[in-house]
Amino acid sequence: MNTLARFFQLACKTSPRIKPSLWKLFYQYLVRMDRDNELLFMNYGFAHLDGNGSKLVLEDADQKHFFCIQLYHYVTSSVTLSNSDALDIGCGRGGGPSFLARYLGPRRMVGLDFSKKAVDFCARHYSHPALSFSHGKAEALPFEESSFDFVLNIESSRCYSSMSGFLDEVRRVLRPGGRFLFADFRHKNEIPALRKQVAASGLKLVRWERITPNVFRALELDHDRKYDLLKKKVPPLLTPMVADFIGTKGSSIYRLLQSGDNEYLHCVLQKEWRA
Ligand SMILES: C[S@@+](CC[C@H](N)C(=O)[O-])C[C@H]1O[C@@H](n2cnc3c(N)ncnc32)[C@H](O)[C@@H]1O
Repeated sequence: MNTLARFFQLACKTSPRIKPSLWKLFYQYLVRMDRDNELLFMNYGFAHLDGNGSKLVLEDADQKHFFCIQLYHYVTSSVTLSNSDALDIGCGRGGGPSFLARYLGPRRMVGLDFSKKAVDFCARHYSHPALSFSHGKAEALPFEESSFDFVLNIESSRCYSSMSGFLDEVRRVLRPGGRFLFADFRHKNEIPALRKQVAASGLKLVRWERITPNVFRALELDHDRKYDLLKKKVPPLLTPMVADFIGTKGSSIYRLLQSGDNEYLHCVLQKEWRA
């Protein structure tokens, strides 16, 4: 990890108030860097181990995002999205909501992100009758209460100023019986705090699953594609920091997932039927 990456991590740890602004700067930078729209996903991906799991069949244009798409597919595999209203918080460059809208048939699929540049990009890049994008913060969602059957959140929550405030908002916008589908990683020392936040959220815990080996396997299998992107798009000064972010082999995130010091979790929470 280079000095810039260390400074970024330290600043995020010591000041929760400036953490969202730093992440926003970083994400805006990534959007600017990707002029030919190759970066439609920003997650570490998911791979089934030992050939287990249903085979995901994708159109040719989606194949290069196979593992990132498979993470979205896995996280939504316990529910039926067709004819539902779904929200993806921290949608980034919109590859996830676009996949869900095209393959799983929700009535309404909304992607939300706090990066205006990312939301503007998504609005220009995608066109699907069920799909729309909103600019807003995870901790203050711009939606009425009980608006969605499903809320997704993939690799975004560790940037937030308040996880508890975010979970309150998820509960508010979910309909009774609606489900929150979550995937993200934490350092193993942060897992007890996350457990407490989930327990205090007022949402019922339906699934708490450690998918670290699946995500690590996806990092291995997707390494060459990501490494090529890194070489092609990122100036040398920023290469170590972006390598950590995208998880190429040897990066600190790669090693932390390999050693188990970082745990990658998939959780499903449900809002009670009666308010
Ligand atoms: C690692 S990217 C993941 C994007 C997408 N979920 C995917 O899997 O490709 C995290 C996203 O969360 C967004 N984000 C971070 N903090 C946020 C906040 N407080 N409110 C809304 N979005 C946020 C970032 O702008 C970024 O696009």
